[in-house]
This record gives sequence, C-alpha cells and structure tokens, in this order.
Amino acid sequence: MKDIDFENIPRHIGIIMDGNGRWAKNRFLPRIAGHKEGMNRVVDIVEECCKIGIKTLTLYAFSTENWKRPEEEVKGLMNILVIYINSQLKRILENNIIFRVVGDYSKLPSSIVKLLDDSIEKSKDNTGMVLNIALNYGGRAEIISSIKKLYEDISDGKFSVDDLNEETFKNYLYTKENSDVDLIIRTGNEKRISNFLIYQLAYSEFYFTDILWPEFYAEDLYDAIYDFQNRNRRFGGI
Ligand code: FPP
Repeated sequence: MKDIDFENIPRHIGIIMDGNGRWAKNRFLPRIAGHKEGMNRVVDIVEECCKIGIKTLTLYAFSTENWKRPEEEVKGLMNILVIYINSQLKRILENNIIFRVVGDYSKLPSSIVKLLDDSIEKSKDNTGMVLNIALNYGGRAEIISSIKKLYEDISDGKFSVDDLNEETFKNYLYTKENSDVDLIIRTGNEKRISNFLIYQLAYSEFYFTDILWPEFYAEDLYDAIYDFQNRNRRFGGI
C-alpha cells in the first residue's frame, strides 16, 4: 500500500465505477454478477474513505443514460441498490455518514424512493463523511434543473439576478453543501467523463485506471490518492 500523506487528503472524491460488465464477461458470468461484485467494492471503498477522513465521496451509480440498458439490467441494478441500503444502512449510521442522493431520483420506483428518503432522513444529523450516490444523474440535467430553480426564485422575488455569481449558483446544484471535487477516479480503462459532475470538476485532478471496478480495492484508492498528492494544483495561478 502506498504511503499517503494523511494531512493532505482530497476533500471530495468522485468515482465513475466502470467495468462491471467486462469483469463479469471475463468470467463468463451475466453482467449483473459484475454489478453485484461492484457493490462489494462500494462497501469497501465507502468504509476506507470514511476511515481516512474524506469529507465527501460521490459515486456514479446510475446515469440519466443508463435507462437505455436492457430492462433486466436496469431492474438488477435497482435491486442491488436496495440490497446495498438494506445491508449497509446500519453501518452507514454507525460510521456517522450523511447519506444523500444526487440526481432526480423521483423517477425511480416508488418503493426505492421511499427507501432512499428514509435513509437520507435517518442520517441527516450525522456529522461525518457525506456519501452522495448519483442516481438518475446527469451533469447537464443537473445544470438545467439548477437554472429552472434559479428562474423560479428570481420570478418569486427570492433571488436577484444581480447577486448571481459562481458562489450563489452553487446553491442550486445537488452538491450545494459539498466542496468542489478534488479528485475524479474512473476505473475500467475509459478516459471520458460521461456527464459526471461537469460543473463541479472545473479544477479536479483526473485519475484513470484500467482496473475494473469489481477489482478496485483500498490499495488502489491509495494509489489514486498518492498520485493526486504528487500533482501540482495551481488553480490557474503559477
Ligand atoms: C458501469 O459498468 C457501472 C454501472 C453502470 C453501475 C455501477 C453500479 C454499481 C457498482 C452497483 C452498486 C452501486 C451502489 C451505489 C450500491 P458497466 O456496466 O458499464 O461495465 P462495462 O463497461 O464493463 O460494460
């Protein structure tokens, strides 16, 4: 395991958990088996991030585009989400984690919406790491929904357009209470952002790895953080 500097931990990590399908295919298993094993890595990585003091972890679990997948896979993914919450909520609460959802999750089946709302409510007074699960999430959709909310507030006289700037616009995003993303990790050997946190990543560092998500363990997270800590972040300065 790489020696990381615990005094300089990224505050907000976003992860695009790619490669579940290929992991399963390599083992002649159905795709859903890859997602199930992917869920086990979610459990490990959440625990590890919490332990090392990450303030916010945002996981891309289901995008606005993922509805295009075969119905069976979509159902399987929803089912895994339910298994995750039912098996992990107790642990999430013990770990003082604030559980949140980013994305328009109202479009998910109503029983899942209820489960998510219940988990959000139960963990809302916690004070530890924020775990954002991105569900029916798309960065463009987020920006458009922010603009709609902003327009409503302006129309209702609750907000003046003269006060609009990067800080005030942030209040309309799903991640309004989180800092910008410091480190984006994408597993599965693709080098693209796939509509993930496109507003929040303006100054993020990117870490791409060919490891498939079901094989991404704590030591791989440490590699990513080590890499991050050895970069020179200038934020446009010199
Ligand atoms: C991308 O791999 C992965 C997804 C679309 C789903 C991610 C979901 C999980 C890891 C399940 C558990 C999540 C939570 C939060 C409980 P892919 O299917 O596109 O893989 P491929 O590119 O190899 O086909």
